[in-house]
Amino acid sequence: MIKNDLFLRALKGETVDRPPVWMMRQAGRYLPEFMEIKHKYDFFTRCQTPELASEITVQPIRRYGMDAAILFSDILVIPQAMNIEVEMKPNFGPYLPSPIRSQKDLDSVIIPDIQDSLGYVMDAIKATKEKLNDEIPLIGFAGSPWTILCYCVQGQGSKNFDKAKELCFTNPVLAHSLLQKITDTTIAYLKAKVAAGVNAVQVFDSWGGMLSPVDYQEFSWQYIQQIIDALKDITPVIAFGKGCWFALNDMSKSGASALGVDWTCSARNARYLSGGNITLQGNFDPSRLLSPPSEIKKMVHQMINEFGKDKYIVNLGHGILPNIPLENAKAFVDAVKEYKA
Ligand code: CP3
Repeated sequence: MIKNDLFLRALKGETVDRPPVWMMRQAGRYLPEFMEIKHKYDFFTRCQTPELASEITVQPIRRYGMDAAILFSDILVIPQAMNIEVEMKPNFGPYLPSPIRSQKDLDSVIIPDIQDSLGYVMDAIKATKEKLNDEIPLIGFAGSPWTILCYCVQGQGSKNFDKAKELCFTNPVLAHSLLQKITDTTIAYLKAKVAAGVNAVQVFDSWGGMLSPVDYQEFSWQYIQQIIDALKDITPVIAFGKGCWFALNDMSKSGASALGVDWTCSARNARYLSGGNITLQGNFDPSRLLSPPSEIKKMVHQMINEFGKDKYIVNLGHGILPNIPLENAKAFVDAVKEYKA
């Protein structure tokens, strides 16, 4: 089967010599080989062309040899498939020209046929699996329904997603209908990804930390729980909620195989809040990759000692930044491979 199965073993909670390592957003703008492709093809062309998406997915693996690959794509292919227009504007980020703010807007949102609308993702998975040649596992992903709603309603990135929250708090019925449509689409999408060959899935709740603990349960967690319930028997699920340390206890009882943690929560607190038994993933401050390589290595070893080498997946606390020097990213991955208990 898969030659390096460290990542899958950590997800099962098995004892390992060292923890596995990958980096959120590891295929990205800090890599010159990524920039070369980025300059030639626009964002969605890269996502929709299996040859390009698979090439971008394996670029960081060739350079650094992480223990898992994550498919190059984006969480916003879901609203796009649901008949919501999504643009990726250079130097701006996602832009949705017709945000969902009323029942009339919602009526035009569809639950798509996955093969018709997102078949290109499955083709990219198959192409990537061929390139990976069973050396390491491939991770598939989706945004959480709440994080997708944030973009659908706000229409673009935001510091506080005020319009998304306003919709939830003034018209919860409409918000919940949209969240349920996104959830149903996401479940079908992730099941198709598993059928196409991914070895695990991660749900990114990048904006979950915008909500209070009570609102988090209502507008985010209950939908992530539906996704976990639907997927947990066919693949390991990793739930990553940025700023969601307060939900770690509920998350630990959800059936997820692992929980992502950001850098604002200490290893000790994360273990305590999650009950000490579930695999955790994280949580190096992405900006700390700006420290000199020797310091990065020391800090990574310290982080592994704090989390413990078992039931642990080394990662950043959020995506890698574009301004990280290549040798610093290398120091991060090498530090894990050099780790001795
Ligand atoms: O992790 C990986 O290497 C796989 C690829 C991946 C991308 N987006 C590629 C991408 C993943 C896992 C994502 C997820 C994603 N997309 C999230 C959740 C994770 C997170 O970082 O919080 C979110 C919120 C998005 C939405 C999104 N897509 C934003 C806000 C942006 C613009 C900001 C930015 O980082 O540039 C994107 C565009 C995007 N998605 C890029 C990449 C490599 C950069 C733009 C480009 O390549 O042209």
